[in-house]
Amino acid sequence: MKIGIIGAGQIGASLTRHYAKAGHKVKVTNASGIEKLRGLESETGAKAVLQGDVVNDVDALIISIPFIEIPRLAKALGHSIAANTIIIDTTNYYPIRDGRIEEIEKGMVESVWVSNHLSRTVVKVYNSILAGSLVQAGLPKGSKNRIALPVSGDIEKSKEAIASLVNDSGFDSLDIGKLSDSWRQQPGAPIYCTDLNLSQLKHNLDRAQIDTLPARRDLALQFILKQDSARWLDWWKECVSNNRVVNETDLGK
Ligand SMILES: NC(=O)c1ccc[n+]([C@@H]2O[C@H](COP(=O)([O-])OP(=O)(O)OC[C@H]3O[C@@H](n4cnc5c(N)ncnc54)[C@H](OP(=O)(O)O)[C@@H]3O)[C@@H](O)[C@H]2O)c1
Repeated sequence: MKIGIIGAGQIGASLTRHYAKAGHKVKVTNASGIEKLRGLESETGAKAVLQGDVVNDVDALIISIPFIEIPRLAKALGHSIAANTIIIDTTNYYPIRDGRIEEIEKGMVESVWVSNHLSRTVVKVYNSILAGSLVQAGLPKGSKNRIALPVSGDIEKSKEAIASLVNDSGFDSLDIGKLSDSWRQQPGAPIYCTDLNLSQLKHNLDRAQIDTLPARRDLALQFILKQDSARWLDWWKECVSNNRVVNETDLGK
């Protein structure tokens, strides 16, 4: 597949590595200048490009930037994304980082807000796995306890294509419904960053309660705020354990 990635941080750079390794043709961009991406480029063979270029001639476009940057990105991109390019949204709303967004506070589903700004539908995936798990916990297809990621979106064919990409990055996937259902994979849900296998993911999906998400999100965040953010590869497993407790995830047997 030809893949464009906007954002080369913890998630964007990790996906760049996975996809390039799996043989996909990857282009990647950031906010502060692509000179910063030369190391990633020579490590992976992905191409660092300007934002105007990243959308050209790609089958899938991954958006992995801070949530609050979405309106600015949408304005910059205008109508430049081809109609047949699948847009993947990995973002999450954290008011402590993004500021308060009234529409979300009033209950708008996060990826619906993203989709409204882009004036395009999106597939939501990779928002519910920590960067540490993305880097270190992938397994070959068929492995026992392979982590499974929820995928939401309104176009069946797009979700099928993205399931194949998720597999290439080391994870199973589960179609959990429409974009309007994607609140079930938002921060504070039992399946959010709790590293579940496929049967655990299915089991916990319907245990999500929309009205408890913000409180659980903020409670889980207390753990992260105490950590050294630069050393995220050192504490992601503890973070997963904390999320399982706070989000009341049932691990079963
Ligand atoms: N980290 C996680 O464990 C995790 C897990 C799941 C989901 N997420 C979500 O995924 C998204 C990305 O997270 P992250 O941790 O990878 O973030 P990050 O490490 O802070 O990286 C953000 C990237 O976005 C780029 N960027 C910012 N604004 C941009 C813009 N307007 N146009 C183009 N690029 C822009 C930044 O460029 P510069 O480097 O040039 O500043 C940077 O490369 C967030 O919404 C986050 O909530 C994160």
